[in-house]
This record gives sequence, C-alpha cells and structure tokens, in this order.
Amino acid sequence: MHEQTIELLKISVVVNGVRYDEVVEPRLLLADFLRHTLGLTGTHVGCEHGVCGACTIMVDGSSMRSCLMLAVQAHGCEIQTVEGLGSMENMNPLQQAFQDCHALQCGFCTPGMLMTCTDMLKKYPLDTDDEIRDGLSGNICRCTGYVHIVEAVRRVRDGAAAAAGETK
Ligand code: FES
Ligand code: FES
Repeated sequence: MHEQTIELLKISVVVNGVRYDEVVEPRLLLADFLRHTLGLTGTHVGCEHGVCGACTIMVDGSSMRSCLMLAVQAHGCEIQTVEGLGSMENMNPLQQAFQDCHALQCGFCTPGMLMTCTDMLKKYPLDTDDEIRDGLSGNICRCTGYVHIVEAVRRVRDGAAAAAGETK
C-alpha cells in the first residue's frame, strides 16, 4: 500500500488588518485555520455544521459561518474575528453593551453573537425587538434566554441613532 500525499495550497488572507500567507491542506476548515494555524481562538466551534452560529466571523464585510467554509475559499478575503472588535481594555460599543447588559453567561456563544450583531447593526435598522430576535435566530445561546442580548443590541442601536442625530 502506498501513502497518499495531500497537495498543500498557498493562501493569503487579511485577518483583523494583518496579512497572513500560509500553506494549508485543501480540506482545512476556515474555523480550524483561524484557531489552530493563526491561534485566534476567540472564534468558537460548536456544532461544526452551520447550525449554532458560534463560529460566526465576518468575511468581506458579511457574517459567515467559518465551519462551513474551507480556508482555501478565504484566499484573497478580508476577515474580521472577535479579536478584531476590541480588547478587554478597549471594548467596542457592542462588547461594552454585552458586558453592561449581562448579555452572556458561559460566553461560549458570545463571539458568534457579537459578530452576527455587528453585521445586523450595520445592515438593518432593527426598529423592533422582533427584528433583533429575527437577526439572532441563527445563533444558539443555551444560557441567557436572549433577553439581555436583545437589550444590548437595542442599546447600541439607540446609541448609534443618537450619535447620528447629533452630527446632523
Ligand atoms: Fe459553525 Fe456551529 S460551529 S455554526
Ligand atoms: Fe452560554 Fe450563550 S452565554 S451559550
């Protein structure tokens, strides 16, 4: 029996503003690339088949499930992970709202929640709680009951609206 050799492919991606040139197996999931190759373990992996939302990241400005993409499919893309939002010392408004509203308990879903919320706050007016809940419907949280997450999103939405009003 002869050993099968796996062809490796070169990819180039920009993650949180930093360019990475790496060599990967064609079958490597983007989630595993971020976590194991780049060491960005903020992106969590739960179901590994696109259901729980824990692995959500931004790819070229839109939220994506990194467990449903291969690393090679991200070649040439610009990626943002939860590490790119802010830091413990300098949280962005959404992260701050999650902390202030107690919008997390165990925190496993939180990176994916934050990335989904980032996307929907950017793209939709989110005028009602139903719209916010609809936007969150692809992300599973087993701890919070979602009430505080909705409150955190509402807070950022209202803050952004107030800031836009001040600059008019
Ligand atoms: Fe990707 Fe659950 S780990 S959606
Ligand atoms: Fe535990 Fe959401 S905070 S799963």
